[in-house]
Amino acid sequence: MKTRLTRSPRVAADFIRQGEVVAFPTETVFGLGADVFNESAIAKVFVAKGRPADNPLIAHIANVEQLKELTSNVPEVAILLIDEFFPGPLTLVLPKAMRVPRIATAGLETVGVRMPRHDLALALIREAGTPLVAPSANMSGRPSPTTWQAVAADLDGRIACILQGDQTEVGLESTVVDCTGDSPVVLRAGAITLEDLRRIAPTSRLSAVDEATPPRSPGLKHQHYAPKANVQILEDHAEVTDASESAFIGLMLPPHVDFRMTELCGSLEDYARRLFQFFRKCDAAGVETIYCEAVPKDGLGLALMDRIERAARR
Ligand code: TXA
Ligand code: MG
Repeated sequence: MKTRLTRSPRVAADFIRQGEVVAFPTETVFGLGADVFNESAIAKVFVAKGRPADNPLIAHIANVEQLKELTSNVPEVAILLIDEFFPGPLTLVLPKAMRVPRIATAGLETVGVRMPRHDLALALIREAGTPLVAPSANMSGRPSPTTWQAVAADLDGRIACILQGDQTEVGLESTVVDCTGDSPVVLRAGAITLEDLRRIAPTSRLSAVDEATPPRSPGLKHQHYAPKANVQILEDHAEVTDASESAFIGLMLPPHVDFRMTELCGSLEDYARRLFQFFRKCDAAGVETIYCEAVPKDGLGLALMDRIERAARR
């Protein structure tokens, strides 16, 4: 298959209407989109990524009206979170409408919904005239793509179209919050932080580890974000000795160490934005070890350390 590159949401939407899959930018990472009501198009998403069929997809909307097509009921607390954080890097897990196909939700009775804060993504959804299911547009097990070139590196020849956009602003996937219980539960940390959620819904909490096993959030049991290099979490700069085959990413460079590659980030936001692209760069260069500076696990730091720990675990 020849993959069409375009900057036009209209051209990309034509592929969606023909039942094809299209990669597109969002503020978090690039997604691989298909019409949420077209089962054979959704099947192509799983095939293109090599994604396990038991991992549900997020449905992306361009306006709150589209919630009615996807959900059977929107709990009060979800309405408050939508008012505050949509569009933005937040996915709400809600009771699904009958007409959402089971292949989209991996058989669950719930559906994850989010409204991206990105002009091209919103234009694509509007032009397609339907919500789009979209996982991150990487091969399963690779870091999520934050540039269209990273999408092409994984999926060129496997998908119909890439809607080109700039490097994504956030760089980590959306916060996933289960809104079907008594209080909101964070299933995946992201740029909308627990502190942000608690301002609106004070009883919001993080999921306990044993809650995150199936069926609450099937995606969490799969291997994620793993570069080929060995990832080491750097708590203390003195831990690095010989670094000639190593790379470093973080906020403060260890003194007196000669790394092969370094990525010095100006802020936590910058660190989050650059992490996945740096993993890919290190893989391309054949680096053996990537040292990632540890940061405190609060605010955005919780999401950042979650991704780094997943990459280090193998
Ligand atoms: O930022 C993002 O969320 C990106 C962009 C493209 O929107 N998408 C993304 O999708 O990261 P994906 O498929 O790579 O991750 C979706 C996560 C998985 O961990 C999945 O298990 C969880 O959301 N999820 C989706 N629907 C769910 C549901 N109904 N119940 C529980 N977890 C769900
Ligand atoms: Mg993903």
